[in-house]
Amino acid sequence: MATASGLGTRGNGPREQSIIDPITGERTVVMGDLTFPPRKVWMKTFGCQMNYHDSDRIAAHLQDLNFTKTEELDEADLVLFNTCAVRDLSNNKFYSQLGEIKHAKKKKGGLVVGIGGCVAQTEGKELVKKYKHLDFAFGTDVIDTINDMVFRVYAGDSKFTINSWDRSENFSIETKVSGDSPQAFVNIIKGCNKYCTYCIVPYTRGKERSRLMAEVVEDVTKLVKYQGIQEVTLLGQNVNSYGKENGETLAMLITELDKIDGLEIIRYTTSHPYDVSDDLIAVHGTSKKLSKHLHLPVQSGSATVLERMHREYTPEHYLGLLQKLRAAQPEIVLSTDIIAGFVNETDEEHQATLDLLDKAQFDFIYSYVYSKRNKTRAANFEDLLSDDVRGTRLREIQAHQLKIQDKIHQTMIGKTYRALIDSDGNMGGIKKWKGRTNCNRIVHFIPESVDTDYKWHWVDVVITSATALSCQAELVADLGRIAPSLQNKN
Ligand code: SAH
Ligand code: SF4
Ligand code: F3S
Repeated sequence: MATASGLGTRGNGPREQSIIDPITGERTVVMGDLTFPPRKVWMKTFGCQMNYHDSDRIAAHLQDLNFTKTEELDEADLVLFNTCAVRDLSNNKFYSQLGEIKHAKKKKGGLVVGIGGCVAQTEGKELVKKYKHLDFAFGTDVIDTINDMVFRVYAGDSKFTINSWDRSENFSIETKVSGDSPQAFVNIIKGCNKYCTYCIVPYTRGKERSRLMAEVVEDVTKLVKYQGIQEVTLLGQNVNSYGKENGETLAMLITELDKIDGLEIIRYTTSHPYDVSDDLIAVHGTSKKLSKHLHLPVQSGSATVLERMHREYTPEHYLGLLQKLRAAQPEIVLSTDIIAGFVNETDEEHQATLDLLDKAQFDFIYSYVYSKRNKTRAANFEDLLSDDVRGTRLREIQAHQLKIQDKIHQTMIGKTYRALIDSDGNMGGIKKWKGRTNCNRIVHFIPESVDTDYKWHWVDVVITSATALSCQAELVADLGRIAPSLQNKN
């Protein structure tokens, strides 16, 4: 497969060379005229799955430069923030943490501090200028060159920003996974051309560009064959636009991935309702491996608000899509995103969202108050709605939805689900294991013995009780780490 290009192309500069001391076994990396002893990187990620995935990719690159991850800030030689600009809240959290790092840098003179991600893409230059303790900033489209940037700082050249767009002809990358998880995120499309009026993402992530289908299929085949991956989530800001420039579609890609032996579950996120094709809906019925969960952000139940948001569909069209999806796959579980109190939203428009929740019967929703973002079109709309009204509407939406999903979850009681177990924890003093079903429901169960390690085991569980927010279960069968085919399992 081609070397990574499409998230920043590395020039002809120095490359990392690994040297292992034959006596101590310690690894040193030499790059150009610099030596990199083992060092630690502390990373803080904000935002969406795309950003978390980017952080994993950055960490994987940094391993080549002898950095391993640490959770302890005190141990860190390098601090990296991967930022999100989508709402004020995520922005504010980042700024307060950036302030705290100032003290860490005072304590440890050689500490290197960088910021990446969506805030860095648009405001990196100003931030590097403004914050003395910030060494460098990098945008969303240059993450594959992170080692060149870190090298540059250690070579004595700091206070720079790189936020150019990658101009490679194709978006071509290879997925990097680390750790023992059988789950992998696979980037299939970057950027977004939709320009919803409230949203900053097209400005922070650039134009849509898709990877070629053959490349993705080869990538996933290798992940399954050599890295033990059993579940993939196809990632993009609007995966439904996948392949447009290459005459390929998401439906075609899923159909191909469905054929890979050893792959158990295929998920994709995020979708835009405008681009949900009949072919894709049909694949939800025919694919053996496609998850029986779909997250399909609606944002509002009001036709006029959707128009002001430039979402390019009506509530009727959206509900029609749900109907078709449920006809194709009767067990499908649906979820969505809602923005409460968009610019000048009236009481009637807000009510229309509550009505849509009743009609759609979502399993869960993510909901946010509208947050004005500079650069977006909505930022120029005159807005008369107060923050109080926005907050009240958000709470109303959330309370309304909780009642709906509580009822839906009651129907799960007594049914058996297959789940992939990812972690354990303490719930009210009792040790429980947690997993996710094919249809994306979180289940908790008490192990038969406290010593049994179920991590990454497939289990069958029967649901014993459920609330709006969680499901308690009893273990029926432990199927171990080897994936049994999940066909026809929820
Ligand atoms: N590409 C995805 C996700 C975009 S950001 C999509 O199209 O759905 C994730 C969610 O953040 C959006 O679905 C939307 O609900 C919310 N969001 C985006 N911009 C926002 C803003 N300015 N204020 C409040 N919520 C916003
Ligand atoms: Fe933002 Fe709309 Fe693009 Fe989603 S589709 S990332 S909400 S502009
Ligand atoms: Fe945030 Fe950027 Fe994702 S703005 S939601 S991190 S694409």
